[in-house]
Formats: sequence, C-alpha cells, structure tokens
Amino acid sequence: MATDIVPSLETIVSLCKRRGFVYPSADIYGGLNGVYDFGHLGTLIKQNLRTLWIHSLNSPRGEIVQIEGALLGPEAVWKASGHVDGFHDPMVDCKACKKRYRADELDLKKGCPSCGNNDWTEIRQFNMMFKTQLGASESAATLSYLRPETAQAIFTNFKNVLSTNRIKIPFGIAQMGKAFRNEITPKQFLFRMREFEQMEMQWFCKPDQAAPEFENWVQQRLSFYEMIGINLNKIRTHNHSKDELAHYAAAALDIQYEFPFGWKELEGIHNRSDFDLSQHTKHSGKDLAVFDEVTKTSYTPHVVECSVGLDRLFLTVLFDAYHEDTIDGETRIVLKLHPAIAPIKLAFLPLTQKLNEQTYKVYEFFTQKGIACQFDTTGSIGKRYRRQDEIGTPFCITYDFDSLEDGCVTVRNRDTTKQERVQIEDLAQYLGF
Ligand code: GAP
Repeated sequence: MATDIVPSLETIVSLCKRRGFVYPSADIYGGLNGVYDFGHLGTLIKQNLRTLWIHSLNSPRGEIVQIEGALLGPEAVWKASGHVDGFHDPMVDCKACKKRYRADELDLKKGCPSCGNNDWTEIRQFNMMFKTQLGASESAATLSYLRPETAQAIFTNFKNVLSTNRIKIPFGIAQMGKAFRNEITPKQFLFRMREFEQMEMQWFCKPDQAAPEFENWVQQRLSFYEMIGINLNKIRTHNHSKDELAHYAAAALDIQYEFPFGWKELEGIHNRSDFDLSQHTKHSGKDLAVFDEVTKTSYTPHVVECSVGLDRLFLTVLFDAYHEDTIDGETRIVLKLHPAIAPIKLAFLPLTQKLNEQTYKVYEFFTQKGIACQFDTTGSIGKRYRRQDEIGTPFCITYDFDSLEDGCVTVRNRDTTKQERVQIEDLAQYLGF
C-alpha cells in the first residue's frame, strides 16, 4: 500500500547522509555553513542530471554550443555586469542576540525570531560576491571575484564563440559550473548554498525575437521537468512583476516547485534584452554587435536565459521521488527516481555467498557496458532490496540455485516490487540496455 507523504527536510537530509549522497563539507571540523560535499551516489545523480539537461536543450530553431568559463573574474567584468553596484541583499542584526538576518525575509515589527527582542540595527546593503586578490600585491588591478553566476563568461566570450564555431544567430551557449554567493542566511540544505552549481543557457537572437523566444523556452523548460518525471502538480510558474525584476531583466518567469517549506524558485527564465552585451561593449570598448547580411545593418543580439541550480534540482528530484510503502506489513522507503537519474541502474544479488562467482559474471557483463551497477552480497535478500529501494535502483537481479539449472534470474521491479524470471541471455534486452 502506498502512503502519500510529503517528506520533511530533515528526512531528506538524513537519507542523504545515511546513503552517502551528500555530506556537510569539512564534516570532521564541524562543517561549513552553506557548503556541501557530494558522495559517490550523489555525484552519479549530478552527472545524470547534467546529461539530461544538456540533451533537453536541443532546439530545431538553432544550435547549442558549450563553454566552460573560469570561476574567477576581474572586477571590470562585474562592474560591467552590474553586480559590483547592484548584487546586494538587505541585512539587519538583532542588537540583543547579535543574530544576522536578511531584512526582506523578516517582519521586523514581530521582533527577533531567535530571542524575541525588538531592537534592530539599521538595514545595510550587503554585496553577495566573494572578493579576492590575484597574486601577492593588493591593488585595484588585482582585485577579482568568484563568479556569482556562470552567465558572464558566456557574454564576454560571445565573439570568440561566434567566430570559432561556424554558427549563426539564433544560437545558444550552454554552461555548467560552480557559482558562489555569500548568502547572509544559507538555509534549507541544498536550496540556498554559498557554493553551488548552475546550469545556464543563453539564447542569442534578433531583438524582435526575444519575446517569442522567451515563450518558447518557458514551454521547453516545462517539458524538461515532465520528461524527468517530476510530478507536474508540484510545478507552477510565476511571472515577475516590475519591482521583482533583477537589474538585468526586461522580463522574467520562475519555474517553482512545491517544497515542504513552500513554493520556491527552481529555475529562472529571463529576457535579458541586450543589457549584458551592451554593457560589455561599453566597458571593454570591444564592439559585440553583429552584422545582419539581409538588412545590411548591425545590431546587438538580445538574450533569453534559462538558469537552474543543479543542487536545487538535485534536492527537488529527491523530494519528488521519496515515497513510503507498506509491503507485507513492513514499511519501506523508496526513491522512485526516473531510471535515467537513478545513480545505480542494476543491483546484482547472489542468494547466498556460494553463488557469488556466477552472479559476478552477469554483473561484470553489464558494468563492462558502462552501466552503473552494484554487487551486493551481504544481508538477507529482503534487506538488500530495501537498501536498493532507498537509493532508487530500478531493478534488482537475484541469482539463486535454480539459476544454475534453468539459466534464469529473478528481476524485481523497484516500483511495483513484482518479480519475473528472465533468461540471462535475454536480460539486456528485457532491461532495455
Ligand atoms: N544568471 C541568472 C541567475 O543567476 P538566479 O535566479 O539568481 O539567476 C538561477 O539563479 C538559479 O540558480 C536559481 O533558479 C536557483 O536554482 C539557483 N540558485 C541561485 N542561488 C542559489 C543558491 N544560493 N543556492 C543554490 N542554488 C541557487
């Protein structure tokens, strides 16, 4: 019997630690607030999400190429992008207990959520970028920043990419990589981190195409969430009003997911107009306009951006996949992950240790095809099934004494728990590999 429960954040955090998906960074030193490390299974899930994301961007309207920009950028880039002057969150401190908050997330009149006092400092603007110095000397020339978004490397490389890839507008540049924000209050585990990964795509088009392309990309991104099996009842869109728009945006829409802590942004889609390319043209002195062969005029391309946090998506798929069932009076936790996201695709379980060698041969056949498999020999079969259910393995394959006679194994389906005998030589075809 399936129970429709919404797992709490604590449930997901504890599953992640228990099964080695995610650890607090520098755990043995007490952790680092807003920074996490990913274990073996977490790393595999992230790799799968990256692959699904990049494949989902294919568009009949133009090509997508990729880059991998540097994490450090000189001050000039972040001046031009508007982040030095505008990438701020309002910060306030409780004078009594010294706790620090984002002022826009509090009702100051209600007092400090920690100690109850109502004695606040002035609200100050706090710039969220991590500043650093390149080399040994400290000067304005060596001042640089860890990037707070991956997008700027795409804009500063726009002409390099255009001239080296034989592509024409419209086209997209995609990038996956780390971004850093000195969040005042990192919270909700992977939801708001100080070091996180973004998957961003900037779509360059003619100015009059930005509005229709914005609509196209909203639909394409919504299909992505359907394709990876997210429950669409927990997805909605939110259009930004004028006062919500980021400093670079002419229009914006959030794709939101219903987390246990409320509806929150999962992905942002922005019409960035020609803001970034024009700013970089102005600040660098390099012309980033293109020439239109048809109209024989130059124009600065407009940009539609799709940006999702990989860690936030990771958290979303875990919340969405988490289920609890009761089978034969026993409760099991099962992650009903889309098979393409599941970190382990197949688990091979010899009924007893005496069958390890024969089972290993079948396991090896699949690992040699590059399929992520586990070979698990310890504990009862029931316990081994539960372990695989908790990490979302779609199929468990049990080799028993009958297998020696009939050349069949038992294939158990994670979601239905149904079991079927399948000939070993037909296994790859049966499983779709
Ligand atoms: N280039 C546009 C941009 O960076 P954003 O809305 O600030 O836009 C895009 O960020 C996505 O990055 C968000 O929708 C979210 O998924 C992710 N993200 C932003 N800040 C984050 C944080 N502190 N921790 C984890 N993910 C974050």
